[in-house]
Amino acid sequence: MAAAEEADSIGQVRVCLCVLCGLPAAGKTTLARTILRGTAQHEWRSTVVCYDDLIPDHAFQSRGMEEQTHTEWKLHRQAVLQCIEQFLKNCDVSTDLPVSCKINCTAWERCIQDLLEPQSDNAPLIFLLDDNFYYPSMRYEVYQLARKYSLGFCQVYLHCDLESCTSRNQSRSKPIPAEVILDMSKRLEAPNPQKNSWETNSITLNTTDHFSDSDIQKVMELLSSALTNPLSPVEDHTEQKMADRLKCATSVVHQADQACRRLISEAMKTARENQVPPGQMRSLAAQLNESKAKFLHDLRTQFLQDVHLTDEDVDVDRAVKTAIHVFDSDKKDILLRAMSDYT
Ligand SMILES: *[C@@H]1O[C@H](CO)[C@@H](O)[C@H](O)[C@H]1NC(C)=O
Ligand SMILES: *[C@@H]1O[C@H](CO)[C@@H](O)[C@H](O)[C@H]1NC(C)=O
Ligand SMILES: *[C@@H]1O[C@H](CO)[C@@H](O)[C@H](O)[C@H]1NC(C)=O
Ligand SMILES: *[C@@H]1O[C@H](CO)[C@@H](O)[C@H](O)[C@H]1NC(C)=O
Repeated sequence: MAAAEEADSIGQVRVCLCVLCGLPAAGKTTLARTILRGTAQHEWRSTVVCYDDLIPDHAFQSRGMEEQTHTEWKLHRQAVLQCIEQFLKNCDVSTDLPVSCKINCTAWERCIQDLLEPQSDNAPLIFLLDDNFYYPSMRYEVYQLARKYSLGFCQVYLHCDLESCTSRNQSRSKPIPAEVILDMSKRLEAPNPQKNSWETNSITLNTTDHFSDSDIQKVMELLSSALTNPLSPVEDHTEQKMADRLKCATSVVHQADQACRRLISEAMKTARENQVPPGQMRSLAAQLNESKAKFLHDLRTQFLQDVHLTDEDVDVDRAVKTAIHVFDSDKKDILLRAMSDYT
């Protein structure tokens, strides 16, 4: 209900949120600029929402992958979406951004200035969201906003091999540390419409070289299709989905727990056979136990977090197997350390 009422505030104007995702230096910003020229020809109003410009430097520097900075970056990403939401509600440069505004307000004003140039009050609005968006969960936040206000939604994934990104990075004004790009390339999960039906409206461009006119053409068609086929704030199956997931998580965690116990008793046996003395044995047992508790906790949390992102039925056996692999390698480290401490 609330969503339908809120949707009225943007009136009849068609809006599209377009996610541009890919590694740093994959060519997102260049592509965005080219698209801007294309949208002007269609008399669409468009702007590039460049996260690097909106998010203050200190957060930018620390965009590393450690848990804490990851969370900080997440809060900033959400602040950007809040600004877009606010703009959609008021459809003007409201200078009273949320008080807790975590983004650079000057940069934001500049960003929406382009949308206020009145071609016509009813001209469609295009937001090109320029960030790495390497996890589906990051893109899903944008999808949710689009759905809430019945906006068009689409994604362009810029596929670029690591070497090209790395060499292009050298000439950037804000170069990114090599390890950040490398780490991101390992974590990157490209849009996958087969797995996530909400990612259906996505295309991939190979930007290892430069993009062609036909690439731009594809993007324009994607935008056009997103504008004419906005999402609908369908009824939410969240609760049922969550309940199913919870059951599934319980089952995965239970089986993983059993498997961990077996691995731990094997490790203890190995230690005993290697004549590790009783004091060490106790400490080894405690360490393995602690590692298991943390592992099971993380497994459960992660499992429940991913609930919205995929339509795939969970293959419990496979999930357990994959997870156990992680614990097994921790176990080996702990065991080796215990035995080498002793010898
Ligand atoms: C905010 O953005 C403006 C315009 O892009 C820029 O000139 C300014 O240096 C930025 N301020 C901070 C604190 O980053
Ligand atoms: C990006 O360029 C900077 C400056 O040239 C360099 O320090 C950094 O290691 C580069 N990153 C990658 C991934 O090559
Ligand atoms: C992308 O383009 C490059 C250069 O044209 C080519 O070598 C590479 O195989 C392409 N990659 C994919 C995944 O199509
Ligand atoms: C194993 O860890 C659990 C929870 O962390 C704790 O309650 C239990 O006492 C521990 N058992 C051993 C044998 O250390």
